[in-house]
Amino acid sequence: MRFRTVLIALALTGGGMTASNAGPAIKGDPAKGQALMAERCAACHGPDGNSQAPTFPKLAGQHAEYLLHEINEYKEHHRESDMMQPLVADLSDEDVANLAVFLAAQKPTPGVVSEPALLPLGKDVYLKGNPATGVPSCDGCHEEGGEGSARFPRIAGQNVEYTLEQFRLYVAGKRPFGKKVMRTVAERLSEKEARAVAEYMASLP
Ligand code: HEC
Ligand code: HEC
Repeated sequence: MRFRTVLIALALTGGGMTASNAGPAIKGDPAKGQALMAERCAACHGPDGNSQAPTFPKLAGQHAEYLLHEINEYKEHHRESDMMQPLVADLSDEDVANLAVFLAAQKPTPGVVSEPALLPLGKDVYLKGNPATGVPSCDGCHEEGGEGSARFPRIAGQNVEYTLEQFRLYVAGKRPFGKKVMRTVAERLSEKEARAVAEYMASLP
């Protein structure tokens, strides 16, 4: 419990997302976001952000604040991805806001669980963490149902292979915004716990 509190405090003070999250809701034109999505993003993420391939993240229903922040992280070359960086390099602030509000309003499809036997362990990690190795529970930030909030991303129904890749990227320092919290979390998860919690997240509606 105490560890979770410390991590939340770190996320709030060190994250840098604080000011924008406290500000007014993002304004954008979802119709323009939809058109841009169809033109440039749908091949990988689907027309409504429900990516089918297990290595591409599902974006439907994700919080607009988080989407906007991550697209800008790619644009500014903070978050490294050879695939995403060139695709967003020339987007205006308005384009990014339009995409974020469109995607946030889409209905996410249910996630795909490939190893149901791992769900009990995954649920344990998600709700209790692993006190022996200092893994905090996930629900304190991502919420019990994985729905997240304006401050923390939605992880319910997310594709398992994408999630596992993100754990690796956090450990490698390739998502610097997550270095305060998620890097520590990812470093402390065993391989089995990482897969189990990823499967559990995918199982959340
Ligand atoms: C060629 C395939 C491809 C296309 C086209 C593509 N993406 Fe991506 N997208 C990816 C991959 C792969 C990742 C995961 C990269 C990583 O690990 O950081 C990703 C990650 C993202 C993320 C981060 C999601 C998260 O949960 O953190 C957002 C947001 C995103 N894409 C939005 C877009 C938008 C908007 C477009 C169109 C302008 C687009 N993508 C076009 C493949 C693609
Ligand atoms: C103290 C708050 C906090 C805790 C506890 C926490 N997270 Fe996170 N998590 C975050 C934040 C903040 C981000 C976004 C960081 C960034 O932008 O890279 C994030 C991002 C993620 C992502 C990437 C999402 C995406 O779409 O790319 C995954 C996966 C994730 N967390 C899983 C977990 C799991 C599993 C646990 C529990 C073992 C956990 N988190 C515990 C705050 C937290």
